Amino acid sequence: MTDSLIEQARKAHTNAYTPYSAYPVGAALETETGGVFVGCNIENANYSNSLHAEEVAIAEAIKTGHTTFVRLAVSSAARDGLTPCGMCRQTLAEFADGDLEIICDTGNGVDRYTLGDLLPETISEEMLQAASQQREAEK
Ligand code: THU
Ligand code: ZN
Repeated sequence: MTDSLIEQARKAHTNAYTPYSAYPVGAALETETGGVFVGCNIENANYSNSLHAEEVAIAEAIKTGHTTFVRLAVSSAARDGLTPCGMCRQTLAEFADGDLEIICDTGNGVDRYTLGDLLPETISEEMLQAASQQREAEK
């Protein structure tokens, strides 16, 4: 049976706006309480304003006060095992630990990772705070 989170990511990609890349992506982000927020990529004629599916899903969750996540599923229309890009990995790391599960649609099953697998040794709020404390201590 296909995981319903992957099904929701697949469904989300059908709303993608991708006139430039023709590469629709869907993402489904599950919260600790079992809620699911979905997103799709939304491109722009200036390219750089394009939103990634994962960013849109996170924004949907955060704007309604959901900040704790346990799983993310991503699916491109090509079902080619797409993983979140580097930018999206860092955005996810702002709100999730390394144990966030990331489930990627290969069409023929899924590839499973953790955020820690995909983004080891990430910069975090804690590192900035530690550096700030060190500067204070050195004054
Ligand atoms: N894309 C995503 O939506 N998520 C990713 O993490 C990888 C890339 C989108 C951006 C662009 O609209 C298209 O896929 C091709 O890069
Ligand atoms: Zn991305």
